[in-house]
Amino acid sequence: MTADVRQDQFTIRPGAALLGELSVPGDKSISHRAVMLAAIARGKSEIRNWLAAGDTEATLGAIRDLGIQIERHDANTLTIHGGAMRPADGPLNLMNAGTGIRLLAGIMAGQDFPSILDGSAQLRRRPMKRITDPLQRMGADIESSDGACPLHIRPAKLNGIAYELPVASAQVKSAILLAALYANAPTTVIQPGPARDHTERMLRSLGVDISQDGADGNTITLVPNQHLNPLDMTVPGDVSSAAFLLVAALLTPDSDLTVTGVNLNPTRTGIIDALTEMGADIALSNVSEQAGEPIGDIRLRASQLRGLEIGGETVVRMIDEFPILMVAALRAEGETLVRDAKELRVKETDRIAVMAAELRKLGAEIEEREDGFRIIGPQSLTGAVVDGHDDHRIAMSLTIAGLIAAEGTVVTDAACARDSFPGFAEALISCGARLLPSNSQKL
Ligand code: S3P
Repeated sequence: MTADVRQDQFTIRPGAALLGELSVPGDKSISHRAVMLAAIARGKSEIRNWLAAGDTEATLGAIRDLGIQIERHDANTLTIHGGAMRPADGPLNLMNAGTGIRLLAGIMAGQDFPSILDGSAQLRRRPMKRITDPLQRMGADIESSDGACPLHIRPAKLNGIAYELPVASAQVKSAILLAALYANAPTTVIQPGPARDHTERMLRSLGVDISQDGADGNTITLVPNQHLNPLDMTVPGDVSSAAFLLVAALLTPDSDLTVTGVNLNPTRTGIIDALTEMGADIALSNVSEQAGEPIGDIRLRASQLRGLEIGGETVVRMIDEFPILMVAALRAEGETLVRDAKELRVKETDRIAVMAAELRKLGAEIEEREDGFRIIGPQSLTGAVVDGHDDHRIAMSLTIAGLIAAEGTVVTDAACARDSFPGFAEALISCGARLLPSNSQKL
């Protein structure tokens, strides 16, 4: 990608109802895991509906640099010949992908060759001590640069450990579980609440002995095993991408939109619960199972919302959806109060500060709190030029805010939407939104 492409902007006009039925690209979390697990499994894995986006392409590139043979039938259909990794010629570049670098660090800690994991300037600002601490406790030889990447990893014998996660992070949990495959004894991870469990589901389906005990299955034990069976899966649609379209439909009068084939894993559906509690007219149908994950269609009709209070375990179940929830809260009657969401400050950007600052440019009043925010609605927005900050979920949330602003809105630095949702602008346009990708002023 060139620097120019990343500076694309979206111009949005409000007013048009969003109608019809569409699907969203494959789940980002599952797509990262699919290529990593296929790389370490023995034999030929088949992956369909894989997410071809900025973050996941970075992971795929790293896997290729590690000597794994990948057949790409089309952008979203891969055959991966796993089992024989070799040292890469240079540092592995995970670009903006936090999930990519943290999970891959767990795998690389167990290899018998050294590696260096690095990424973009944005990734270099994100905390890595949360994974280097537990991996070092397992005996891994892993060094960060002042708690950030690049990570230098050298071969070491790994021990099984019992580790209580200080934050409910699926990335940290997964890094430990992946390293645990190479340890000399079982590893137990205790999570404070139910963080997304795709790693556990996928490892189990590939034949790994992984069990969950305790209240809500929050104690997870993995018995070491480096003989993973190959993967054969169709990646479900990403509920985190669907959330932008659903909130757009909710807030745009006369909308009636259905997003099909969406992952409904209960560790990911906090946003559906939150919107339902806010009064959204939302209905699930065609619920079935795909690749060991629940999936279904979500229909949403424009609704008058009321504010709500969110804290505790729900936060983890919708950690990526707070930027878009902020937009919904602006239109909801009464107070929306979010607590226990300090993790938002260490995502691609400080998502509390950045969303509050950008939405203020549209005329919003938002009270920022250390671990969340408070919004009293409903509020009217005016059009303005806002900045996506090279953070995909910020750029997409601001685009949806533009749909409910009184005049035209321009989102600059919006090309990062492609990090998780390639075709985001086209999807919105296909259901009726008035949006122009690029600099064109004709709308
Ligand atoms: C992810 C876990 C979450 C989430 C990220 C994807 C994953 O991060 O924010 O977008 O795929 O495991 P944390 O686990 O650090 O909260």
